[in-house]
Amino acid sequence: MNIRLSLSPLKGWGCSFLLAALLLSSIGYAQLFPNPMHVPDTIMGTTFNLVVDESKKLFIAGDSSDTYGINGDYLGPTLIMNEGDFVQMNVTNNLANTTTMHWHGMHVAPEDDGGPHTPIAPGETWSPDFTVLDEATTFWYHPHLHHYTAEQVYFGAAGMILIRDNNPIANQLPHTYGVDEFPLIIQDKSFDTLNQFIYTEMADTMMVNGTLGPYLEVPGQMVRFHILNASNQRVYNLGFPFQFDMWQIGSDGGLLEQPLPTNRLYIAPGERAEVVIDFSSQIGWNGPMVSFNSEMGDGVSGAPNGPGGGPNNPLDGVDFQVLEFRVQPPTANPITSIPNNLNTLSPPQEINTDRYRTKTFTVDSTGFPFYINGELMDMAVFNDTVLLDDIEVWTLINETDIAHPWHIHDIQFFVLDINGNQPPPHLRGRKDVVLVEPFDTIRYITQFTDFTNDTVPYMFHCHNLFHEDAGMMGQFIVTTGVGVEELEEGTAFYAYPNPTLNRFNIVAHEGNFSDINTIEVWDTRGRRLVTRVPAPGVNQLEIDLSPYPTGLYLIRVNYADQFQTLKVMKAK
Ligand code: C2O
Ligand code: CU
Ligand code: CU
Repeated sequence: MNIRLSLSPLKGWGCSFLLAALLLSSIGYAQLFPNPMHVPDTIMGTTFNLVVDESKKLFIAGDSSDTYGINGDYLGPTLIMNEGDFVQMNVTNNLANTTTMHWHGMHVAPEDDGGPHTPIAPGETWSPDFTVLDEATTFWYHPHLHHYTAEQVYFGAAGMILIRDNNPIANQLPHTYGVDEFPLIIQDKSFDTLNQFIYTEMADTMMVNGTLGPYLEVPGQMVRFHILNASNQRVYNLGFPFQFDMWQIGSDGGLLEQPLPTNRLYIAPGERAEVVIDFSSQIGWNGPMVSFNSEMGDGVSGAPNGPGGGPNNPLDGVDFQVLEFRVQPPTANPITSIPNNLNTLSPPQEINTDRYRTKTFTVDSTGFPFYINGELMDMAVFNDTVLLDDIEVWTLINETDIAHPWHIHDIQFFVLDINGNQPPPHLRGRKDVVLVEPFDTIRYITQFTDFTNDTVPYMFHCHNLFHEDAGMMGQFIVTTGVGVEELEEGTAFYAYPNPTLNRFNIVAHEGNFSDINTIEVWDTRGRRLVTRVPAPGVNQLEIDLSPYPTGLYLIRVNYADQFQTLKVMKAK
């Protein structure tokens, strides 16, 4: 700490070997950084052909490692899409195993979202198409096969998506990919003595864009980085061992309103951030970008006191280098300043909230897996039903002593508060991942627009991919709620899907079933077929009509001394 403070006023500090030596001793440098960082190729335009395949890559001299790659030997190309374009995706699975491909962060229909309900069998091609509705930002793509996401991502099936838009700000920010704009896909990896990946929760070697021990030559000017934490579990706290001019300009789903001067970038699995770093006074300097994990709070993966207590490998709880920058002369027409106003954000107002939901994270005495509202992921259960265009406030309550990076598909949200306090500035932008630290409560607001599907759900889950694969995930449907009928007392119930093939849900639009005595299914000849007593506190009940023929059924909801009926059609 003393070292850092005493050096902070120095700006051009590439000169001093003595200072560098002091710094080196303050950082855990287990790794050397001799390898030029790979900058993924790009695909632009409106057709994106991706082939996921097994491959091999030489990471360490000697034997190459078995990997998964997308159009290559490890990770995939950067997909550059324009807001408003209608794009055709073609994902071919050449793996021996089933996969899926999810466009993490994108606002697309559930059937195009690439979640666990859209498997791609070996040898098959999945071809969704959709309009890019998102503004300029950093997304990513990765498989989402239930129980196998962590492994497929760890072996290399992932890539970055950059959205460009017509915001005139775009030209005032560094925007020449591979020159003054770079993706940084940060992962930790472990290798065995035969140079093969050890598939593990917390690995011990840093990799950026698939390059182990990478250095990057940057021009001595303002350079923009799209940073993605594509690690399965580890959280990073990026910065420099000196005061350095760094601004965060974007969060998961777009640009922040103003550039935020910062010396740390805290980034959890699945999260993205855009930063601009001014290298103009550092020409000739070679120096580290560091993850200051010694500063992390308890229960955060990679902290001194991380999940399960003490450090489990050399990167845990220490400050370690992620990347080396080697600052070159500037390019011909460098960007020399960034605008003060980047974006206008218009979060929904809480006063307009249609519905509140709570998601509580728990664990039992065995310590694993983690539950959301007491449940584990069940592909056959839709945990929540959202009405199209509703504005909702979700409260995330972490009752465990471990931090969980919460993620939800379909939408971007705005954090309302953290333990009742206004979120810090870097969490005031559009978000789709937020790290919920131990025993914290985070509320966010969002609106579910544009897409409905009564049979294909969206996911919400912990983006610690080991937690996700073990069931810390749930599903929600967005529906137009055909058949919504108002009860007295202002309570609304509806059935979906309606018509249905077999299963449908009775949903309390507001509140829950606590005043409901029974829910019954009657046929049109007056026979009662099903009687169910909803559990207290739930707001949704699934009923299966598979024993009964196609046709019309009456659903009778008995509450207090009244009842309400809904009609449900069982179709072929
Ligand atoms: Cu990164 Cu459910 O996804
Ligand atoms: Cu996602
Ligand atoms: Cu988790």
